[in-house]
Amino acid sequence: MPRLGVNVDHVATLRQARGGPVPSPLWAARVAERAGCDGIVCHLREDRRHIQEEDLRFLRRAVRTSLNLEMAADPGIVRIACRVKPDQATLVPERRRELTTEGGLDLRLAGMRVRRAIRRLKEAGVRVSLFIDPNRTQIGLAHRLGVPMVELHTGRYAEARSGPERRRALEDLKAAARQARSLGLAVAAGHGLDTRNVRPVARIPEVEELNIGFSIVARSLEVGLEQAVREMVRLTR
Ligand code: PXP
Repeated sequence: MPRLGVNVDHVATLRQARGGPVPSPLWAARVAERAGCDGIVCHLREDRRHIQEEDLRFLRRAVRTSLNLEMAADPGIVRIACRVKPDQATLVPERRRELTTEGGLDLRLAGMRVRRAIRRLKEAGVRVSLFIDPNRTQIGLAHRLGVPMVELHTGRYAEARSGPERRRALEDLKAAARQARSLGLAVAAGHGLDTRNVRPVARIPEVEELNIGFSIVARSLEVGLEQAVREMVRLTR
């Protein structure tokens, strides 16, 4: 039974559209916790397109469950993370012009920046997870980097255009989750999950955390945020 982390970035995306104080990601975090989620996720991007530093500080004070900060291995962001001390930091790749995080970190290219980020965050007492594609090479490399956790990118599964493609992507997720667990890594998964595709991923026994944002915020326009989180909590149990 995986934990559900609710990503509140897109509440801030809407706020930034007008530059005022609402809707507030802090309010969203409180509602999501009331609705039974197990953690709050936000991504402080270098371009600050949604979450701002102030949001992160307020979230740190308000979140009662667990705060997971998605972030690039950028030294400036690492400094902020070490000061704010989220419960967990998930290192993700970041490209300025992407619509969202488009793929996992490629650990074959992860040089000193990633190593240094991992070391600094560990020293600050922050648990580090690496967001990677579900394949053997990336998992082996994550293990060698000495992190306790990986988050498997579910984008290829979520965006599959045919049944066979989706089944293959699901098999890859299952195999990756098994491999990671056998190496002693805790396993999370996320990206592109919604009420229609989440169940098979939630049932992978090794997956202990799911992080979901966009579909919950989009659904909240129809049923309200509290109900949208409750639905997802139910589907992931
Ligand atoms: N996990 C990670 C590491 C992500 O970067 C994202 C996107 O911000 C998510 C989960 C959530 O993805 P979505 O918004 O598509 O649910």
